[in-house]
Amino acid sequence: MQVFHQIQSLRRALEDERRKGKRIGLVPTMGNLHDAHLALVKQAQATCDCVVTSIFVNPLQFGLNEDWDKYPRTLEADTVKLEGVDCDYLFCPDETEIYPNGMAEQTRVVVPSMTDVLCGASRPGHFEGVTTVVSKLFNIVQPDEAVFGAKDFQQLAVIRRMVEDLCMPVVIRAGEVVREADGLALSSRNSFIGDDERPGVSQLYRSLCWVRDQILDGRRDFVTLADAAKEQIRAAGFKPDYVSVCNSHTLDLAAHDDAELTVLGAMYTRGARLIDNVSLVLGA
Ligand code: PAF
Repeated sequence: MQVFHQIQSLRRALEDERRKGKRIGLVPTMGNLHDAHLALVKQAQATCDCVVTSIFVNPLQFGLNEDWDKYPRTLEADTVKLEGVDCDYLFCPDETEIYPNGMAEQTRVVVPSMTDVLCGASRPGHFEGVTTVVSKLFNIVQPDEAVFGAKDFQQLAVIRRMVEDLCMPVVIRAGEVVREADGLALSSRNSFIGDDERPGVSQLYRSLCWVRDQILDGRRDFVTLADAAKEQIRAAGFKPDYVSVCNSHTLDLAAHDDAELTVLGAMYTRGARLIDNVSLVLGA
């Protein structure tokens, strides 16, 4: 695997690949890689000739009181893991490489409306940071395809909208959520879960599944179901942020005749904010 810290040298290497007719895949990450990330790399390898994984803990997508400073940085271990799955390129720039004029002066990419709800409501500016850095990564790598984990369902929907709105020539693919045996979705932030909290945290997933099953049983009182799920999370000892049943494409609150729905939720443990989702298709 070739490792690049600089945009120019990565670009030169990728120009060679492109000249040889290679299809390029990108897996953008913030590092601290686990099996779900490695599954994204393998997924990219299935349809691309060479795969670039980027590791950059993007300060622009963290709020002032969020966990940017304590976000786990494990570049050495990540490099070994990427070599283990035969990733071709690792791009791990530092902050000045990505924001040479400083973050305040950085041109921004904003997807309106769908970024103000759900996670966007409790993390103002978060998605602006994501779409800005992902646009930069797309411009740097110019991938044919990019793969994002479906655990961050809203992020995926926002990126799809950005790509559509800005006519970006990249195919966006979703990697399935990878879970622990009890249903907890793999996440770098799981390392912030206390040992005493760990047995209970899969309540988020269990509650989202409960909402899904109620809908499959014919219920359409989405707000009541979401409130009941939040109550279950509270009863398990955690603070719910939101639970919401949404149209899978627009992320608008679900309407009675929507066929493709996603139940999204977020909750707080003592040291982490966890997110998850389950999708369902009605009348399929
Ligand atoms: O999902 C993530 O890890 C980040 O939001 C991303 C897409 C790499 C942008 O920084």
